Amino acid sequence: ERVCGLIGHPVSHSLGPVLHNWAFQRLGLPWVYMAWDVGPDDVGRMMDAVRLMPVAGLSVTIPHKRAVMDYLDGVSERARQVGAVNTLHWHGTKLLGENTDVDGFLAPLEDTGRAFDSALVLGAGGAARAALAALQQLGVPDVRITNRTRSKAEEIASDFGVQAVDWDARAENPAALLVNTTSLGMSGRHIEESPWLAEAFPSDCTVYDIVYNPLRTRFLREARSAGCHVVDGLSMFIHQALAQFRLWTGQSFPVDLARELLLTHLR
Ligand code: ATR
Repeated sequence: ERVCGLIGHPVSHSLGPVLHNWAFQRLGLPWVYMAWDVGPDDVGRMMDAVRLMPVAGLSVTIPHKRAVMDYLDGVSERARQVGAVNTLHWHGTKLLGENTDVDGFLAPLEDTGRAFDSALVLGAGGAARAALAALQQLGVPDVRITNRTRSKAEEIASDFGVQAVDWDARAENPAALLVNTTSLGMSGRHIEESPWLAEAFPSDCTVYDIVYNPLRTRFLREARSAGCHVVDGLSMFIHQALAQFRLWTGQSFPVDLARELLLTHLR
């Protein structure tokens, strides 16, 4: 029997346990995935515990994606570029950090079969960094970033060698791909907000929201009304989890069935 799990603060809202436990069961693996609510002061002790318990792998979520890096035997080039670790796995006796948000972000974009000559990333947190790493890996030639607080966009822009544009001028900077990584649209106090203007969607653009609760954010609803192609955050969530699952078990689960399962938990 092996144990996998999630550390974060909070963790109760996470769909990770539902998804990974379903996948273990499908494959007949006697594994279990647990959620541990670990406060900021307890990360070190938790990481000590991880080395003592039969933990095969760990997901790491807010606010620990940066802090765990101090307790690992190695961090992948990609996680270092993003500046965050969302997955721990073993390589022999070494506990390594990886970031599967990049592949998770990329897979649904590749599934569209579309090519993008430009992209605008809205927001400047950790998710924006993962999106930029993915867009550069995809080879999108013209990538820009914008954020309400401009200094944060500029910092990321300089790390990735892309252009920062003014938040108030974002509608004058249309791109073939618009990506929301802000908290606007998320269940809670921002639920009815959108990071874009309904009347300013470029024609035939692709609009990607990494928010998945709710699944149909205002941003995506208005984009669809404007005739844009839309990609929701549940696809990214499932694909980043699949990449984790592969690292831990060497096996896969079907993303379409995973999506059906999670849809029943989102309503
Ligand atoms: P929250 O406001 O829910 O606490 P956050 O974690 O502070 O969310 O912000 C996440 C991202 O959403 C940030 O890029 C943030 O912009 P700032 O860096 O300027 O804070 C963005 N964001 C949150 N609320 C916003 C708003 N009302 N308008 C524009 N961007 C917003």
